[in-house]
Amino acid sequence: MQKEKGEGDYLNMQKNQYEAPVPPEAVVGNYAWHEEYPYETFLLFKNGDVRKPIFDTFNDKVALDFACGSGRMVKRMRRLFKKVDGCDISSRLLREAERYCKPHSGGGIDSDFYLTNGNDLGAVPQNFYDFIYCTISMQHIASHAIREKILSSMFAALKVGGKITLQMAYNPRAPFAYELPDIVHVGNMLEIRVFTRVQGADYLSDDFNAPATNGAYDVLIAKKDLTNVKADLSKKFSNVALWFSNISNYLNDLNGQVHQQYWATDWIYLHGEKSSSF
Ligand SMILES: C[S@@+](CC[C@H](N)C(=O)[O-])C[C@H]1O[C@@H](n2cnc3c(N)ncnc32)[C@H](O)[C@@H]1O
Repeated sequence: MQKEKGEGDYLNMQKNQYEAPVPPEAVVGNYAWHEEYPYETFLLFKNGDVRKPIFDTFNDKVALDFACGSGRMVKRMRRLFKKVDGCDISSRLLREAERYCKPHSGGGIDSDFYLTNGNDLGAVPQNFYDFIYCTISMQHIASHAIREKILSSMFAALKVGGKITLQMAYNPRAPFAYELPDIVHVGNMLEIRVFTRVQGADYLSDDFNAPATNGAYDVLIAKKDLTNVKADLSKKFSNVALWFSNISNYLNDLNGQVHQQYWATDWIYLHGEKSSSF
C-alpha cells in the first residue's frame, strides 16, 4: 500500500519538477496564448472593467509577482509599476527571470527575486508591497493548507492599504469538465450532455499524494466552492471580490493560438485589500 504523503513530500515533488531543465516556455505552456491574453486588464481592473482600476495610479506602486517563474509577467507589469519583484519555488526559473528581466528597459527600478519554500514568499520584505499578483501558478498548488499559508505570507508582505489579485482556474461544474461528443435526446423534451471527471484537487483538499504538478494535477475551483473561496480571503482581507474572464472568448482569436483541451472555462480572479495589520 502506498504511504500517505505529507506537505513536505508534496513540496519536494513540486520543487524537483520545477528545477528540471525544461525550457521556460514549456513550463508556461501555450506560451504565445498567455502572452496575448490581457492579464493586466483583469489583475488591475475590477471585473476587467477599465472604469474600475484597483489603484488611482500604478507608476508610484511596488508590486510582487508570486510564482513569477521565468519573469514573463514581471517584464509586462514593470511597464506599469514603479518596481516589480518576483518570488518562486524554483531557483532555476528565478535565474532565468533575472536574465530575462535585466537590464531594465524603459527606466524604473530593477527587480529583486526571492526563492521560496513552496508554502511562503521566502525572504521578501514585510509590510512593503502595494500589490501582489499571481498568474497561472496558484492553480498548480493542489493543497488548500499550503495556499492558506501563502495567503498569510502575502498579507504580511503587503503594506496597509495594499491589495492582491490572484488568478486561478474555474469551471462551474468541476470536477466534471470534459464534454463528451454524445448528446442524448429524450423525446423532444430533454437534452442530456455528458461530462467526464478531471484528475485534480478539490478546492478544500490537500492532495499531497499528487504525482505531478503544473497542469498535470491542478486545483479545480467549482461554483460550489465560491462561498469558501470568499470566506478564506475574508479571514484577513477586506473588500473581497471575485471576478471572471471566460477564456473561451480567447480561444480562437489570439493569433490563431488555441487554448483547448483544458478543463477550465474561466479564469477566476481573487481580490482583497489589507485594511489593517491584523
Ligand atoms: C506555469 S508557471 C507560471 C509562471 C509565471 N507566473 C507566468 O505567468 O509566466 C508556474 C510557476 O509557479 C511556480 N510554483 C508552483 N508551485 C509553487 C509554490 N508552491 N510556491 C512558489 N512557486 C510555485 C513554478 O515554479 C512556476 O514558475
